[in-house]
Amino acid sequence: MTCNVMSLTGSSCDMPGVHRFEHAELGVTDLEEATAFYTDVVGLIEIRDDGDCVYLGSGLDETFDIAIREGDTGIDHFAVRVADRDELERYKARLDDAGVDVKRDDGNEPGQTAGLRFDLPSGTRMELATVEDRRYQHSNEVHGDGRGGAAPMGVDHITLASHRVKDDATFLANHLDFSVSTAVTDDPDAEEWSGAFTRRGDYHHDVAFLPHPDPESTMHHISWEVKTVDHMKSFIDRINQHDVPLEFGIGRHYAGDNVFSYFQTPGGNRIELTAEMATVDPAADTEYLPFERALSAWGPVRPPESFQEDVS
Ligand SMILES: [Fe+2]
Ligand SMILES: [Fe+2]
Repeated sequence: MTCNVMSLTGSSCDMPGVHRFEHAELGVTDLEEATAFYTDVVGLIEIRDDGDCVYLGSGLDETFDIAIREGDTGIDHFAVRVADRDELERYKARLDDAGVDVKRDDGNEPGQTAGLRFDLPSGTRMELATVEDRRYQHSNEVHGDGRGGAAPMGVDHITLASHRVKDDATFLANHLDFSVSTAVTDDPDAEEWSGAFTRRGDYHHDVAFLPHPDPESTMHHISWEVKTVDHMKSFIDRINQHDVPLEFGIGRHYAGDNVFSYFQTPGGNRIELTAEMATVDPAADTEYLPFERALSAWGPVRPPESFQEDVS
């Protein structure tokens, strides 16, 4: 298959299969404490424990959503699912042609059958992955024991902290058939953007970027899908009972139209809860918005200073 590329919108390479944020490997300051938080409070299920790395999922299937490893906060890598090995090889060829250094990582993670790893222009490591259990990606119910129904349904998207927002988003568009749904800027021709929201499928964003001057920055937040605003409220009540305060929200983003709330986990990674993410016409043009407009659909809101910080 030949794909026409070098456009910020409208993939011409529409292969079937799910192409969404699949998982991330996170650093945590205390592995035991973080494992207890994610299982006992968030309600995730332990899929595999390698001793120094614990793989956790929402229980929908056998694939994991996050891997946690003791170390600096932020991510080692994040992964986006592709349809099958043929598609993986097509992307390998395209990345090779573009001079991108690509390494294979096959079957080393639970449920992951094949993977390609490479760096975005900012240096953050990305993986394209195929998974064994492909039946479900999203659910409308909480799985596992659900911790009283408060657990999230699964990961929704990742927002990276980047010192090269426009370059990273353009890389995804040029080489991996993403589209830029929203670019955060007052000037579409600006050399740098103040944020970017990119999609590979129907949803407004799968991988987003917020700016951070530190080249070592990797992540702003991982977003978990909840079913409704009531579900979000139950989750916030639950974490609050465990002395984890809300950082920002509840509100509705304009970029993505999703209802949001944010908090920082023990150890310092940031989680977003998201509900009602909008879907976007595949041919939709990139939308250019100033930051304040993209941030809130409900009128001006002021996030706390901590929200401007990455977690890595
Ligand atoms: Fe991975
Ligand atoms: Fe988000």
